[in-house]
Amino acid sequence: MIEKLYDLLGKIGYIHPLHPPFTHGPIGAVIVAFCLGLGVLWWRRQNFLQSAYYAVAIAFVLLFPTVLAGIMDWQYYYSGAWIFPIQMKIALATLLFVLLSITLIVGRIPGVRSSVMMLLYTFCLFNVMGIGYFGGQLVYEGRTPAATDGLFPGRNIFVGHCSGCHSNGGNILYPNLPLRSAPQLVSYEKFIEFVRNPKLPDGSAGPMPAFTEHKLSGQQALELYDFIIKGLAKPTRSGER
Ligand code: HEC
Repeated sequence: MIEKLYDLLGKIGYIHPLHPPFTHGPIGAVIVAFCLGLGVLWWRRQNFLQSAYYAVAIAFVLLFPTVLAGIMDWQYYYSGAWIFPIQMKIALATLLFVLLSITLIVGRIPGVRSSVMMLLYTFCLFNVMGIGYFGGQLVYEGRTPAATDGLFPGRNIFVGHCSGCHSNGGNILYPNLPLRSAPQLVSYEKFIEFVRNPKLPDGSAGPMPAFTEHKLSGQQALELYDFIIKGLAKPTRSGER
């Protein structure tokens, strides 16, 4: 049944997971509630409290399609595998359901203190940030192979600066120029020269941003090179590129 839905979406050109676009709904509504709560504390405008209440109600309603889309994506793209980021997302989404329910109930108590409501909005905000973090972990961690202890600093730099475009040593913008088999990896000198001033093979400027000393220090570049050479560019299993 789920496959049919994704097949149908594929036919109209939508070939990506469904959950990410939905997440903006509840997360956005919680952020709006939090900001309005700050407005109550700052300007002492009680009508902001009413608006924040509506925002929480919207977050509550939108939570359902978002969770449904998340479960469907999990089944379709991850075959329902019980992995850590999914466990955390499910636990936090359940907690968000509880927190939003409590906020909606407490918000209806006549004369409830705005500081109490603000505390509840803050809990909801931290919760959605946590869910977003584990969503990011699910997507970004999978873009970089694990590393042994000594390569951790370089791996972190790779995750932060390179993995967005060079997922697992590939190249999402120019798939025919994957990082893992790049000629510039032959020596650190060639590597740093390229990273400081990247160019397409024909010598023209491509979309890769230049990493100046300010963005990537010499020390960081060394650690990054070490990780790429030992943890990415030389696959240990035979049969892999
Ligand atoms: C915004 C996307 C993007 C980011 C971020 C990025 N690159 Fe690139 N990279 C590219 C593109 C596109 C090319 C093709 C050449 C160009 O655009 O200049 C490329 C090419 C390369 C090549 C040469 C590949 C070949 O086969 O010729 C190397 C090496 C490389 N990148 C290393 C890095 C490193 C290391 C980082 C992180 C510090 C990084 N890139 C960050 C997009 C990116």
